[in-house]
Amino acid sequence: MMNKDRILYVVGIGPGHMNNMTKEAIDALEDSEIIIGYKTYISLIEDMVKDKEIVESPMKGEVERCKMALELANNSKKVAIVSSGDPGVYGMAGIIYEVAERENIDIEIKVIPGVTAASAAASILGAPLMHDFAIISLSDLLTDWELIKRRVQLAAEGDFAICLYNPKSKKRVEHIKITRDIMLKFRAPETPVGIVKNAKRDDEEVFITNLKGMLDYPIDMFTVVLIGNSNTKIINGKMVTPRGYNL
Ligand SMILES: C[S@@+](CC[C@H](N)C(=O)[O-])C[C@H]1O[C@@H](n2cnc3c(N)ncnc32)[C@H](O)[C@@H]1O
Repeated sequence: MMNKDRILYVVGIGPGHMNNMTKEAIDALEDSEIIIGYKTYISLIEDMVKDKEIVESPMKGEVERCKMALELANNSKKVAIVSSGDPGVYGMAGIIYEVAERENIDIEIKVIPGVTAASAAASILGAPLMHDFAIISLSDLLTDWELIKRRVQLAAEGDFAICLYNPKSKKRVEHIKITRDIMLKFRAPETPVGIVKNAKRDDEEVFITNLKGMLDYPIDMFTVVLIGNSNTKIINGKMVTPRGYNL
């Protein structure tokens, strides 16, 4: 029987500062006694959560972080676990449900959506995601690299605009190059590409280039790479994928 008095908020804090957070996310943080999250994300919202108990956790300890959040909420504390962007997009939402099932903790889990990095970056670049698009993470920590390459190829063949998350890390430097080479089999070298680092944060960086030139720009784990479809063009310095209207 679900214990309805106990709530764990899984909060999407958006890409950067508070003004990109939803009202629902702000309300959930205000309602919480304890805030749990990776320290970079906590630092983005520190002004808002000064009067709360803060539990910062390391990047890799996701399962432990979820277990702790569920146990605290089950012990009648109001708890929020935070994810950057949207918690349902490579965030904490799924793993919270899985750990709750494994630990047999039957409380209400409330997932609060946020502005995901793809939407934030698209708004900065112009309007590159106006038509069908695919989001693909190049991280092979939890997904087999052969499967990732297959998805890149199928999205390229299908002429989807593509937004790459986790495009390149210090150790994983070749995946972005291999991805670009797969794309070039199906798309022109001049296809527009937008690179956005730290979207909506103080140190935001934005580049618009093309498939041929994209590897000459800085790409890391704080970056998303948006590759246009075969109709994407540059209008007044902005990247635009036409929806198909007759003008
Ligand atoms: C594990 S995923 C988390 C995605 C997050 N849940 C979301 O909805 O945006 C981490 C990746 O998201 C992308 N990312 C997240 N926030 C970003 C931002 N503000 N600017 C650019 N890329 C970002 C980067 O590609 C990063 O490697």
